[in-house]
Amino acid sequence: MHIVLTGGAGFIGSNFIKLVLRDRPDCRITNLDVLTYSGNLENLTDIENDERYSFVKGDVRDPEALDKVLADADAVVHMAAESHVDRSIMDSGPFVDTNTRGTQVLLDAWRRAGGNDKRFIYVSTDEVYGSLSLENLEIKFTEKTPLDPSSPYSASKTGGDLLVSAYFHTFGMNVVTTRCSNNFGPYQFPEKVIPLFVTNLMDGKKVPLYGDGKNVRDWLHVDDHCEAVLAALEKGTAGQVYNIGGNNERSNLELTHAILGLMGHGDEMIEYVEDRLGHDRRYAIDASKIKSELGWEPSRSAWPEALEETVKWYVDNRQWWERVRSGAYQSYYEQQYGSKA
Ligand SMILES: NC(=O)c1ccc[n+]([C@@H]2O[C@H](COP(=O)([O-])OP(=O)(O)OC[C@H]3O[C@@H](n4cnc5c(N)ncnc54)[C@H](O)[C@@H]3O)[C@@H](O)[C@H]2O)c1
Repeated sequence: MHIVLTGGAGFIGSNFIKLVLRDRPDCRITNLDVLTYSGNLENLTDIENDERYSFVKGDVRDPEALDKVLADADAVVHMAAESHVDRSIMDSGPFVDTNTRGTQVLLDAWRRAGGNDKRFIYVSTDEVYGSLSLENLEIKFTEKTPLDPSSPYSASKTGGDLLVSAYFHTFGMNVVTTRCSNNFGPYQFPEKVIPLFVTNLMDGKKVPLYGDGKNVRDWLHVDDHCEAVLAALEKGTAGQVYNIGGNNERSNLELTHAILGLMGHGDEMIEYVEDRLGHDRRYAIDASKIKSELGWEPSRSAWPEALEETVKWYVDNRQWWERVRSGAYQSYYEQQYGSKA
């Protein structure tokens, strides 16, 4: 099978490529990525010489580039996105452009390439469901929960999500959508909370905690997520949505304390900062459908071990995160959109 993966130079994509090359000896994988600030080919140096892997620098919004790369593909896994909520609050334009319009351009290109009956995976997010309250912790998102996104990021992902669903209903396209919770693990751009906090502490800086710190997220190890996406690719039913979660709900304050503890610091290193605008209170995933239908459940997300291993990865890989946060994204954004991110 020849898989075209979009966004493979990012955090989840680069981990997905390694999983496929390791566990599916008969697969070839082409990574189509435009290399924004968060796309980094250094994430892939250990496999770049594998003859089953190839990289194409290209944009999901560019029909011509897509026509070339999709010509002999058997499946598409669409992960490319602008992925950081805070940036979407500063400037939502690139989010709508890549996450919504880019998904439409890619779906049309896949149909032109004869992909209507071949699998297309859309990697969506639990954020399309909006926010749960802290009142009743029994309530979780199921695949039937109405979509009610609250940030420009999640709204732009919802746009892509709805288009994928529309292409199933309109054209009978062989699409499957996955909606996962917050990922953690190696190679995550250090603007996201876990690498941000670890790298701040390594630099002797405090960790900025939004609001009262009570917002809850379900933490999913990136390896678990990638295995679930592979299960959806190989065994999912066309037109279906599968929630993916880590059974691992934590408040941001719990997460912060856990990281501080692992790094030998106390509460004095917390700096409470003004809450994110429109900050979703709680995400919680009911992942029983993917377990019963595809036989997937998380096996690597459990804390404290998985968190400890992740924190250690950033501690051991200072060179990596110093290089990726060196500021290249500013020039990319200025070049693309004429504004600062
Ligand atoms: N990280 C999470 O916790 C999480 C949770 C739920 C869903 N997701 C989804 O998973 C996917 C991957 O997330 P991530 O955390 O790896 O993001 P990331 O920001 O680390 O990587 C995104 C990748 O997409 C590429 N890209 C961006 N715009 C592109 C374009 N126009 N054309 C081609 N490539 C482009 C970037 O260069 C980068 O390599 C996204 O679709 C995101 O919405 C992520």
